[in-house]
Amino acid sequence: MTDMSASRPAKRVFIKTYGCQMNVYDSERMHDVLRPIGYAPAESAEEADLVILNTCHIREKATEKVYSELGQLKLMKQERGGNLTIAVAGCVAQAEGAEIMRRQPAVDLVLGPQAYHKLPEMIARASRAVGDRLETEFETLEKFDALPKTREADGPAAFLSIQEGCDKFCTFCVVPYTRGAELSRPVDDIVLEARSLAAQGVREITLLGQNVNAYHGAAPALSNEADWTLGQLVRHIAKIGGVDRIRYTTSHPRDMDDDLIAAHGEVPEMMPFLHLPVQSGSDRILKAMNRGHTADAYREIIRKVRAARPDIAIASDFIVGFPGESDEDFEATMQLVRDVNFAIAYSFKYSARPGTPAADMALQVPEEVKDARLQALQALLRDQQEAFNRSKIGETVSVLVTGKGRNPGQAHGRSPWLQAVHFDGDAKMAGMIVDVRVVDASLNSLTGELVNVHEAAL
Ligand code: SAH
Ligand code: SF4
Ligand code: F3S
Repeated sequence: MTDMSASRPAKRVFIKTYGCQMNVYDSERMHDVLRPIGYAPAESAEEADLVILNTCHIREKATEKVYSELGQLKLMKQERGGNLTIAVAGCVAQAEGAEIMRRQPAVDLVLGPQAYHKLPEMIARASRAVGDRLETEFETLEKFDALPKTREADGPAAFLSIQEGCDKFCTFCVVPYTRGAELSRPVDDIVLEARSLAAQGVREITLLGQNVNAYHGAAPALSNEADWTLGQLVRHIAKIGGVDRIRYTTSHPRDMDDDLIAAHGEVPEMMPFLHLPVQSGSDRILKAMNRGHTADAYREIIRKVRAARPDIAIASDFIVGFPGESDEDFEATMQLVRDVNFAIAYSFKYSARPGTPAADMALQVPEEVKDARLQALQALLRDQQEAFNRSKIGETVSVLVTGKGRNPGQAHGRSPWLQAVHFDGDAKMAGMIVDVRVVDASLNSLTGELVNVHEAAL
């Protein structure tokens, strides 16, 4: 990283990431693109020559955050006499690039999620004040092809994007418009990236996609087979030496096929955790959302998944106050939650997004009703989450150590069920998989005592 400093002073880039894991992955890839042209990562905007906001458009609040952050950056730029390059990337850039330029003239660059490989060229252009600042085409495969083939790993757990975009068009959602059509990367490319991560000590890989279980990527070049499914890909990646843990997120109930479910029971590297958003427990609302399945179909998938892997933790997403949602519809959601019993879940008030069909639907739900429903749902989900965490007390669980813990003499890691675990240890153990006996649990984490260190980590 510092080799270039002999010939010229290193520049610094600060990337602030909003939204989902796809953005987290993309921010890492932007660092990979910028490193060769002399940009080292900065810890904060204050230290940086280039600030990139990697933005999220999913709810109104997420979008508004970007504009307030840009207001702050504008002041910083003024204080430095213009010596700061400001770029906006991600889904807000894709959805309303021209609007960003209009509302905040201090912005130098706007680029959509498919254009990150063009960053060096755009930075060069911006520094010459050419003003050609928008890049928002959907050229997903070109993006993956043009990004560096190797990655710089940051710790023992990493994201790997295997699929982008979405064709599902849920009536509330902007993602099909901000990320474009569904596209899967070829198996060979993914394996190359997974191997490069494993060679750097990565032991847990989370395969990413907006609908990751709709994966249908080109089979390995030598195999002459048809496109592979996620189940096939997972079984293949599990064979890569050094990859001990595999996860995937986010999935869609419609694409939860039997082979993938079976893999949960058959592939030891597959972690017992499934994030399967359901959004609502009411068939009427699910239909209006264009989710393409019923609440009972969801219950049936969960039944099958638990039959394959009894200790699996189920996670989900919910929206309350979708247009037309009645008290009975909301009660159906509460009932689904009681029936399934979630380990963790994310719940949101419906936010009308410009350009989506639901934004124009009649019977928008008043804000106070949404508030009350969200509170009731979150109280139930919190109880389930705490109960799930407490159910591990007394068990010995395997923990991937990610670094030092909150207090001195403590290490931090994650359990197979994606729980944060604090235990007696130190940062030198990072990258090891150890056994920890759980002695206490709270809403957000487990506390335990080190039992032993697996041979594989030594
Ligand atoms: N591809 C994923 C979800 C991506 S968006 C899937 O299909 O599950 C993440 C979550 O944001 C969604 O699951 C949904 O719960 C929430 N969300 C999306 N659009 C929303 C909106 N307009 N208002 C409120 N929440 C929304
Ligand atoms: Fe959005 Fe639905 Fe696609 Fe998920 S499946 S990204 S919620 S349109
Ligand atoms: Fe947000 Fe874009 Fe992800 S809208 S949730 S950052 S795909």
